[in-house]
Amino acid sequence: MNTAVIYYSLEGNMDLVARKIGENEAVDLFRLIPQKEYPTGKISKYFWGGKSVTFGERPKLTNPTIDLDHYEILVIGTPIWAGTWTPPLNTFLHDYSITGKKIILTATHLGGGADKCFEKMKISLNGNTIIGTFQFKEPLQQMDEHIDEKIETIRTLIEA
Ligand SMILES: Cc1cc2nc3c(=O)[nH]c(=O)nc-3n(C[C@H](O)[C@H](O)[C@H](O)COP(=O)(O)O)c2cc1C
Repeated sequence: MNTAVIYYSLEGNMDLVARKIGENEAVDLFRLIPQKEYPTGKISKYFWGGKSVTFGERPKLTNPTIDLDHYEILVIGTPIWAGTWTPPLNTFLHDYSITGKKIILTATHLGGGADKCFEKMKISLNGNTIIGTFQFKEPLQQMDEHIDEKIETIRTLIEA
């Protein structure tokens, strides 16, 4: 089945997961890029990112329109910011009408987990079938021992 991995990543953790999912599969990767990227400095990323997520911002993206009709499965990926998904994903969820898809939710985080975010996202993606949720603790720092197993399970779901 045609699969799109649609994700945001500021500092590469979610990007690593997305690329691993894409390695052995005929999947299309779409990294959401805001017109004005968030800063990556230790303090400024929490300040500007935190402010943006708190105010429910929907930053403009530079990506060309994605033809969702082409895909049966969407893998949606986001870092966790303040317990929820990131503003660029907010833009994506707002701009596209997503229904009738099989969806795999993925998130990276620093230890707070993604359960709450996934629960909220499931509500926001009502009208689709969530076929899996996978969270990764800071994969770039190799804090997640089970990254390869989780990626393998995602690949199995995509191939099914
Ligand atoms: C503004 C901001 C808020 C964050 N809030 C959380 C949080 O609530 N819980 C958590 O576990 N990690 C939090 N983090 C850490 C990121 O989720 C984590 O580092 C993630 O893996 C980064 O993904 P990326 O490298 O793809 O950008 C936050 C990071 C930023 C910049």
